[in-house]
Parts: sequence; structure tokens; C-alpha cells
Amino acid sequence: MENEHTITANPAPQNNFPPLPKVPYHVGIIMDGNGRWAKQRGMPRTLGHRAGAENLRNIIESTVEFGVKILTIYAFSTENWKRPKTEVKGLMSLLHYYFNRELDELLKNGVRVRHLGKMDGVAPRTKKEILQAVEKTAHNDRLILNVAFNYGGRAEIVQAIQKIVAANIPPEEITEDTVSRFLYTAGQPDPDLIIRTSGEFRTSNFLTWQAAYAEYYITPILWPDFDKQAYYDALRTFSQRKRRFGGLNDEEDIEDDA
Ligand code: FPP
Repeated sequence: MENEHTITANPAPQNNFPPLPKVPYHVGIIMDGNGRWAKQRGMPRTLGHRAGAENLRNIIESTVEFGVKILTIYAFSTENWKRPKTEVKGLMSLLHYYFNRELDELLKNGVRVRHLGKMDGVAPRTKKEILQAVEKTAHNDRLILNVAFNYGGRAEIVQAIQKIVAANIPPEEITEDTVSRFLYTAGQPDPDLIIRTSGEFRTSNFLTWQAAYAEYYITPILWPDFDKQAYYDALRTFSQRKRRFGGLNDEEDIEDDA
């Protein structure tokens, strides 16, 4: 949903980086390439995920500094259960470790954690930790951190349809806004920018509905190496793009078309 919140009116100074003319309100990140990062170093994949989690801490900090208001991270997809048991187990313990170690830091930085995804199949301990992080940070308002965990974009849409039917909403009253209101991201503006690391050109079932008009930025950098400079480069590229949302956006475009 594009609305008045989409672009921050007065982007915060980006510290050592030149100010950007506009900063996306909502950024989504597909944190890809942990496995390759580890392989390049002769390490097990799990260590790549650990390096990825370390990097996430820095990127959250930079997100606050850059003035982005919502960050959605793809931490674990509904398809990731198909990975080898040891890797799945490693990712689960990482989540545990992350929330235990980082909760204070998230609280200090004014980060509000939200969960996007299903709890079915998630171990009770993991579920408890996610809900605790959501609850303990509920009063924060500097940054919303949507953690897409056990998340699938199509499943999210199916679930929204089920809820709409269960709510007995007459078909003629169902609009795009209705669907948006039944998604995990209800009440939040859609992502303006989606970053995917490690050079893959796929959307991988991430924010399938919400990303309809998002700008995509693909970088070959592997997630553990995606640093503040790389993030700034993504934001700078975004700030130079002309978004049209299917229309024409200035007089020059309209004249070209005449
Ligand atoms: C994709 O890399 C990454 C994931 C499936 C998991 C992302 C998770 C993290 C960065 C850890 C932080 C998150 C938590 C749980 C707090 P890949 O394994 O597909 O890499 P490859 O394509 O190189 O194999």
C-alpha cells in the first residue's frame, strides 16, 4: 500500500555518508549467501549463518541511523524446513542465541520486533522466545523489525483469504485494502525497497503481495559481507530511481508520451 508514509520527509543525516535526497520508509532484505560465504572459507554452512546473524546486528544499527522506519528480514522461509536437519537445527539455535543476546541491544536502539509467519511446526521454546521479543519491545517506536520466520508469501495470502471468508465479508466489499488488512503486515506501508544479496534474481516467496510496487536491488555481495557502505549504496540507488506505480510521474514523461 503506497501512502503518505512511504518516504521520510526529512531524511536523517547518514553520519559519515552524504545525505540522501530520499530514504525508503520500509526496506525488506533477503539475506542470501551465508552458505557460499562459509564454503569459500572451508567452513560448515552453520558458521555462515552465524556470520550472517552477526552482520544483522550491524545492519539493524545502520537502519536506525539511515532513518528507515521499517525493516523486514527474511530469516527462515516455510521452504527452509527442507534443508538438512543439522542446518535447520543450527538456524533455530541461532534464533535462540540472537534473541537472548540481542534483546537488550534492540531495546536500547528503540527497535520493535514483529513476527511475520506461522507458528505451526515451530518448537515451543522458539515460539516462546519470538513472542517474548515481540512483547518486550512492543513499546518501541524508532524502528519496526519484522522478522519473517517460518514465512511464505503465498501461504500468507491464503491465510488472509481464509480469514476474510471466516469474517463473512461480502465479495463485492473485498478490495486490495481488505486483503492488506488481513496480512501479517496489517497497518504497515508496503516495502519501498527490497534488497537481495548474493546475486540471485528471485523473489523467493518473500512479501509476495506487499512487494507489488517495490523497487528491487540485487547485489552480488554475500550477506555476511553486506556492510554499511553496501547498504548505503543500495539506498543511494533507490533514491535515484523514478517510481511510477504504473503511471507517469512528471510532465516530461507525459510530454514524451504525447
Ligand atoms: C540464506 O543463505 C539465508 C538463510 C536461509 C537464513 C538467513 C538467516 C540469517 C542471516 C541468520 C540471522 C537470522 C536469525 C535466525 C536471527 P543460504 O544458506 O541460502 O546461502 P547460500 O545460497 O549461499 O547457500
